[in-house]
Amino acid sequence: MRIILLGPPGCGKGTQADIVCKEYNIPHISTGDILRDNVKRKTDIGLSAKQYMDTGRLVPDEIIIGMMQDRFSENDCKKGFLLDGFPRTITQAEALDNLLEKMDISLDHIINIDVPDEDIINRISKRLSCPNCGEVYNLLYKKPKKEMSCDTCGGKLHQRDDDKEEVIRNRLDVYRKQTAPLISYYKQKIKNVNGSKDIREVTMDILKILKS
Ligand code: AP5
Repeated sequence: MRIILLGPPGCGKGTQADIVCKEYNIPHISTGDILRDNVKRKTDIGLSAKQYMDTGRLVPDEIIIGMMQDRFSENDCKKGFLLDGFPRTITQAEALDNLLEKMDISLDHIINIDVPDEDIINRISKRLSCPNCGEVYNLLYKKPKKEMSCDTCGGKLHQRDDDKEEVIRNRLDVYRKQTAPLISYYKQKIKNVNGSKDIREVTMDILKILKS
């Protein structure tokens, strides 16, 4: 199964990707997670990407495309994959088309998760994540059992640097200008899901599409 999850920042791509990838036993490829790991390890990619990420701007296409070429060459991608946060511009979508053509494979599903801006700001400002294992929580909708501690690995939970309200508003603006045009780019194949429902209902709607 080869899937793209599209949608604005904070719409629930990462949350749903984790569930779907367990169900289909495919790798969850999140460009945001790969970039954050590079920032943490202070690699060349991380050092270049940090300034863009901290202000809610997109990391330049050439960095992302090179990074994804490497990721697709890894063995686990042979059984399929779910892309979360890539592509994010028309240039990245065209580069993905070329890569898929070279690998002689095609996409099975493109799903867009739709959520109004005010819900997104509310959600992201209450998001906490675990820097050790990547598990994501929410103080309103998915609380950790023990305050500020990860249920999975016991790591100390933190708020992402780009989850401050002014940065979130900029990310939404960038989404509208640079990423939303992908909805027309993929119009032949894209299916919309209402991401304002609760997490389990959104999962059921996505699984229904994947099984169709
Ligand atoms: P990235 O990490 O991809 O961030 P994003 O797309 O902005 O998405 P988020 O991770 O913020 O949210 P999400 O949709 O995964 O939602 P989540 O499931 O966590 O990118 C970060 C930065 O990296 C970018 O700004 C850019 O600088 C750079 N970057 C990344 N990819 C790039 C690319 N391809 N090109 C260029 N630059 C790139 O959910 C959010 C919260 O809501 C959580 O707390 C969750 O528990 C909660 N929640 C989820 N679903 C529901 C629900 N149904 N109801 C209530 N709460 C819910």
